[in-house]
Amino acid sequence: MIGLAVDIFISQKRTDPMLKTCVATVGLIGLLVLCWAGDRPPASDPKIERGKYLIDKVALCGDCHTPHDEQGEPIAGQKLQGAALAFEPTVPVPIWAATAPGIAGLPRLSAGDAVALLSTGETTKGIRSRPPMPAYRLTRQDAEAVVSYLRSLPAGADKKAGKGTTSVEPPNR
Ligand code: HEC
Repeated sequence: MIGLAVDIFISQKRTDPMLKTCVATVGLIGLLVLCWAGDRPPASDPKIERGKYLIDKVALCGDCHTPHDEQGEPIAGQKLQGAALAFEPTVPVPIWAATAPGIAGLPRLSAGDAVALLSTGETTKGIRSRPPMPAYRLTRQDAEAVVSYLRSLPAGADKKAGKGTTSVEPPNR
């Protein structure tokens, strides 16, 4: 825009050299600003940001779904890509799931099933997650935000890490 304005201005054959230099400088700065703005990543989606906030700051899904190193720190680059749980129940829980499957990229569940699971506690087919996956009752809006964020993440190399809720029969509880 500014570059075009400069061209038009200059093509009007104005003769004042000071004015020409001044206009050219303003045009150059304008072009630089445009180039800089063009290089920036697209403005972040508020829905995805909301989902990231709920996952990282409120529900702490990564405590189970992200692998941790020996110091208990989440392993960089493997966020929500599935992990063997580091704890067990102190009383027998026959349907205990010892692995939190990879949920980055949502490799196994459809968006609709994931929203249903996180907002009603079961998928559209009535399948529930085994413990210790909490039976969340997020609002539909928050569940959709969480699912949008999960779908924006790269799935782990081993997409099958953990069997996942969808591969088991609904437990009777
Ligand atoms: C206390 C540990 C724990 C926390 C915290 C946790 N999960 Fe889970 N999650 C699990 C386990 C274990 C399973 C596997 C359950 C099964 O196999 O039936 C699971 C399963 C799932 C599934 C089904 C995956 C599939 O492919 O079938 C989804 C989706 C999911 N979790 C999302 C979340 C989200 C989103 C959060 C945070 C809002 C979260 N989980 C927090 C332990 C946890």
